[in-house]
Amino acid sequence: MNILVIAAECTPFAKVGGLADVVSALAKEWRAMGHFVRIVIPKYGTISTDQWNIKPTQTILSVPIGWWHEYTRLWRGQLPGTEVPVYFLESRDYFDRAGIYGDPEGFPDNDRRFLFLSRAGLEVASAIDFVPDIVHAHDWHTALTLAFLKSHYRHHPRFIHTAGVFTIHNIAFQGQSDPYRILPLAGFPVENFYGSWFEHDGAVNAMKTGIMFADKITTVSPTYAREIRWTSAGFGMQPYLNIRGADFLGILNGADYSEWNPETDPHIARTYAIERLYEKDANKQALLEESVPPHDRALEIPILGMVSRLTAQKGIELLLGCIEQFVRAGAVRFAILGSGDERYERALRRLGRHYPSRVLVYTGYDASLSHQLIASTDYLLMPSLFEPCGLTQIYALRYGTVPIVRSTGGLADTVAEYDPTSGSGTGFLFGEYSVAAFARTIERALQYYRHPVHWDRIRRNGMQQDFSATKSAQQYINVFRWALEKIGGTVLA
Ligand code: ADP
Ligand code: GLC
Repeated sequence: MNILVIAAECTPFAKVGGLADVVSALAKEWRAMGHFVRIVIPKYGTISTDQWNIKPTQTILSVPIGWWHEYTRLWRGQLPGTEVPVYFLESRDYFDRAGIYGDPEGFPDNDRRFLFLSRAGLEVASAIDFVPDIVHAHDWHTALTLAFLKSHYRHHPRFIHTAGVFTIHNIAFQGQSDPYRILPLAGFPVENFYGSWFEHDGAVNAMKTGIMFADKITTVSPTYAREIRWTSAGFGMQPYLNIRGADFLGILNGADYSEWNPETDPHIARTYAIERLYEKDANKQALLEESVPPHDRALEIPILGMVSRLTAQKGIELLLGCIEQFVRAGAVRFAILGSGDERYERALRRLGRHYPSRVLVYTGYDASLSHQLIASTDYLLMPSLFEPCGLTQIYALRYGTVPIVRSTGGLADTVAEYDPTSGSGTGFLFGEYSVAAFARTIERALQYYRHPVHWDRIRRNGMQQDFSATKSAQQYINVFRWALEKIGGTVLA
């Protein structure tokens, strides 16, 4: 099958969160299964072309925007360790700046930047002579691709048999914009806007547009699929997901275990395997040596870790609400790596200064440190308000780091409560979004820390889970086949 992926992020070139990991993990798997994949992302100013051996091509794409054309040079690289070509769109106006989205407020021209990506992504197919069976778009950033595919490109010889699949990674971000600004640029009439597939609450809504125009819609876990269709977690998109109900399903994200494997991870102080789980402690030791003064490095104190974007979604309020009560009781340490909202960063840094050997705080984005923290901590905290899937807890399981999570979205699908009677389960969950419920769950989880039999069991259970992208990649291929059946197309390769 020929698959054209258009996305705003892709690991390792440009990553803000899990979207990047999923785009890259799926592409690797599809390639290994014998499919032909091409990925298109922007050439952000932060991408190091030297580090990843990304080279300019001779191709300049002419992209129709409004009544004129805009131009972008195509650069080419490969997903490291694979033959999957990745194309980068160069644009001084749109992408050559620091940052991907301009968080937390977002760049004021994000609507136009991603409109450009969505349109240029399809133009890449012609430039590289690729006939896609599937165009796969991700999140609001590339949702308009589906509208283009079904309108301006519908009779384009390259796309006559192409089906469009839209994957929702986070429905909280919908890409609202002014119809009078965006529709003319996208080449759609403003007159028919109200009540159209573009409109929600009087604005152009890219998320709705993707949902309505795609042949199939997926999201990143079965529980999140139910939540966004039937509850307020859908942020207003529930009616549209219901209209498209027959074409909508949840596919649990998978991990790239070639990147996230404690047996081979080059980022961690000591690699370890399930049979040598005691060696995990060497990583804890290394973390303590790095971050804690010598008099307070007791290995026996459990470390509760967190690696996260610092936003309301991730339940940072709950963490801030209980951290001091645990630290004052003296029973635990926290190690937190995160970046995001300034108020959270400030609050965490303050705690770090106040309890320098008990609250280890690392602000900023650091891929290598994220591996080290997941390997060196005992528990991983994810008290998310909502969580479409969550990858960090999946990585933690593989590293024998026990997740303590709120039972929502993909967290509910990947972590099972430990049952001391049967010895089954992989972590600890709570339902109510409150500091009290979270703190109670941490206490429950800590009870097992000093019981070697339970502690061993629960960590081994986690390490034996298989949430590999190999499974999810196969499920996507099934969805792609259904999408092609739906449009009456056939798979050529
Ligand atoms: P989300 O996509 O909502 O941020 P996920 O759990 O799906 O949540 O994915 C988060 C990804 O981003 C993981 O790979 C995690 O390790 C990584 N990550 C989050 N914050 C940081 C950070 N500050 N530094 C490095 N990696 C981070
Ligand atoms: C989003 C979600 C996260 C999910 C990731 C990859 O960023 O917040 O839960 O794991 O996308 O699908």
